[in-house]
Amino acid sequence: MQTQVGIDAGAVLAQLSLEEKAALLDGSDFWHTEPVQRVGVPMILLTDGPHGLRKVAAPDDASIEHSDEATCFPPAAGLGSSWDPELALRIGQALGRECRVAGVDVLLGPGVNMKRSPLCGRNFEYFSEDPLLAGVLATAWVSGVQSHGVGTSLKHFAANNQEAERLRVSAEVDERTLREIYLAAFERVVNEAQPWTIMSSYNKINGTYASENPWLLTEVLRGEWGFEGLVVSDWAAIDDRVAALLAGCDLEMPSSDGVGTRLILDAVAAGELTEAQLDVSVARLLGLIERAGRRERLESYDRDAHHELAREAAAASAVLLKNDRGLLPLDPERGGTIAVIGEFARTPRYQGAGSSQVNPTRLENALDALRAELEGRREVVFAPGFEIEAETADAELVAEAVRAAADAEVAVVFLGLPPSYESEGWDREHMNLPALQIELLEQVAAVNANVVVVLSNGSAVLTSGWERHAGAVLEGWLLGQAGGRALADLLLGTANPSGRLAETIPVKLSDNPTIGNFPGENLTVRYGEGLLIGYRWYDAHELQVAYPFGHGLSYTSFEYSDLAVSVLDVGADPRVEVSLTLTNTGERAGAEVAQLYVGDPAASVYRPTQELRGFQKVTLEPGASRRITIELDKRAFAYWHVARGEWVVEGGEFQLRVGSSSRDIRLTETIMLSGGDVSAPLAVNSTYGEFLARPDACAWLHALLNRGPLGERVIGTHLGKMLETVPVNRLARFPGSGFTEQDITEYLAR
Ligand code: BGC
Repeated sequence: MQTQVGIDAGAVLAQLSLEEKAALLDGSDFWHTEPVQRVGVPMILLTDGPHGLRKVAAPDDASIEHSDEATCFPPAAGLGSSWDPELALRIGQALGRECRVAGVDVLLGPGVNMKRSPLCGRNFEYFSEDPLLAGVLATAWVSGVQSHGVGTSLKHFAANNQEAERLRVSAEVDERTLREIYLAAFERVVNEAQPWTIMSSYNKINGTYASENPWLLTEVLRGEWGFEGLVVSDWAAIDDRVAALLAGCDLEMPSSDGVGTRLILDAVAAGELTEAQLDVSVARLLGLIERAGRRERLESYDRDAHHELAREAAAASAVLLKNDRGLLPLDPERGGTIAVIGEFARTPRYQGAGSSQVNPTRLENALDALRAELEGRREVVFAPGFEIEAETADAELVAEAVRAAADAEVAVVFLGLPPSYESEGWDREHMNLPALQIELLEQVAAVNANVVVVLSNGSAVLTSGWERHAGAVLEGWLLGQAGGRALADLLLGTANPSGRLAETIPVKLSDNPTIGNFPGENLTVRYGEGLLIGYRWYDAHELQVAYPFGHGLSYTSFEYSDLAVSVLDVGADPRVEVSLTLTNTGERAGAEVAQLYVGDPAASVYRPTQELRGFQKVTLEPGASRRITIELDKRAFAYWHVARGEWVVEGGEFQLRVGSSSRDIRLTETIMLSGGDVSAPLAVNSTYGEFLARPDACAWLHALLNRGPLGERVIGTHLGKMLETVPVNRLARFPGSGFTEQDITEYLAR
């Protein structure tokens, strides 16, 4: 085992010239940092990510296709649906091993941006529409990679929820929404796993580029959350190098060809930037290089074992949306032909397009896997039915598919999104499958009553228009290099579906919360739905959905019982333990995801009806039971109080709702918490009513009011009630008020 080159960051910093420091903060090519040979600072290698390594052979190669072979695990669209942090940890560890073999120092991922709109072209790279689910999975993933002494880059920080105009658009988001939805997953990962780096995103947030945003990169990220690592720009995200550096964006990637270095040196010469300010970022970079140097290199990893892990992950990630009459699993021993229809069965879509594209070590397709599994037992006939990127139906291919279906006992139809429909770099225009695929399905269903649809898509597709033609629908997302075999395992019941939707599938696109606010106009996108992303919106509006957040069927059934809630602390920092028993009441082993939602039905601010606050995936043998406990802390009950600038729990009733999906709640309990202080700090323009609510302030104000004639007309009278919405500094100006604005200022300064 060979060790990387180690440095002592502190000692090196003291030896660097100003020019060397400035150069260090600019990449040396597409993928490496700048070396400083004079003092023995090596270059380190940053590589995409996230669901496999995309290590390109030549350092100046920006192309996507030419990368070394690596295991292609399911992209986040798949893994997000596994709801399984233990699995995400093992995948992280496997990726860490591959990085050690390949000499990769930082793997560029995971992406924890929220799936705000189903149309975002890069949703396949993101876990969920819910920040808890994304945060928990990403924490495990980061811990896994970093357990090997390899860094990660949590991305894209922040509010990068679309591809349209991603380098220029300003996401207009109110602070509470940012904190509760768009920053929350980042915050969790930083707190629990300390990623070595964070990647600042391309877009602006409320008018300021994320990469130049001191509030985001310094105040919140470092000041509040305690981030200790390095901030790297997304590739070419920096607009103003000096502003970015001052805001806390340490490293510019890729190389700016010397432009960034020059700008930094000029700013130092002009006195806009001090060398001490520069040193802060250089020290962080040297710290990263030092850390990377402590790792021992591995000679090899077990490709077969990683492929098997990819297969296990794929099987855990597919979601069985529908299974009428127990159509699935297909019985391998039963007679009758299986017609496999659809080009995706032979040519799988297993990952998304763009910077995350991995060159897989192997690739399995469902057709071959089914044939291999059923050899000598059931006949499998195949008809492609369509060409994946075709715009019009091919009558011969359709006729062949219909003939195959007519003669078969069951037709398994593989439908999905062509690669051109979704990619990094652009958004989708609609949520539909290609019309020619739906027409094919209709024709197949006309000749065969047993139709199973298997989907391949990186972001959600509408199902309402066609699903009546299918008895069963298996949502396969994009499942990585072993996805084909995993789908065969699931279809044949060798594996039991256990994926759950990490995003809602609406009935129609126009039900989506971002309608009218996606992808924005005039380089601005307004997050008008506020907190109501995904299921929060559909619940608030009591909208029917095709399949709710958290939904997913199994070949077995589960019972929820014996809910017990212990409130360990009722105060400002509450602690609650929720326990219940899960029982597998069916005939096969399987896994259930118990989901815990919390609602705050009466609050002084708007709160979503229910929010996911905990979950656990549990595998049970038939007939077996397990008692599980989910712990809730302050954040499960808190909201971001904008005026106080902190998380607060407002006392009152909270509903605890445990279920198998957000719309299949099995057990509920209501608890009372006393919470903490949620009042806004008093200011000169606080209202008379706000003063009345504070005994001290009220007594003080009334004493002053009583000095003038207004006192007796206002205190405890109808007029007083009317004046409750009047700011006290305006009340001070009323004739005979008995006090001045100066009195209030002095009182508040005490
Ligand atoms: C993407 C990042 C990626 C980087 C390097 C950017 O365009 O947004 O996610 O890590 O390129 O390929």
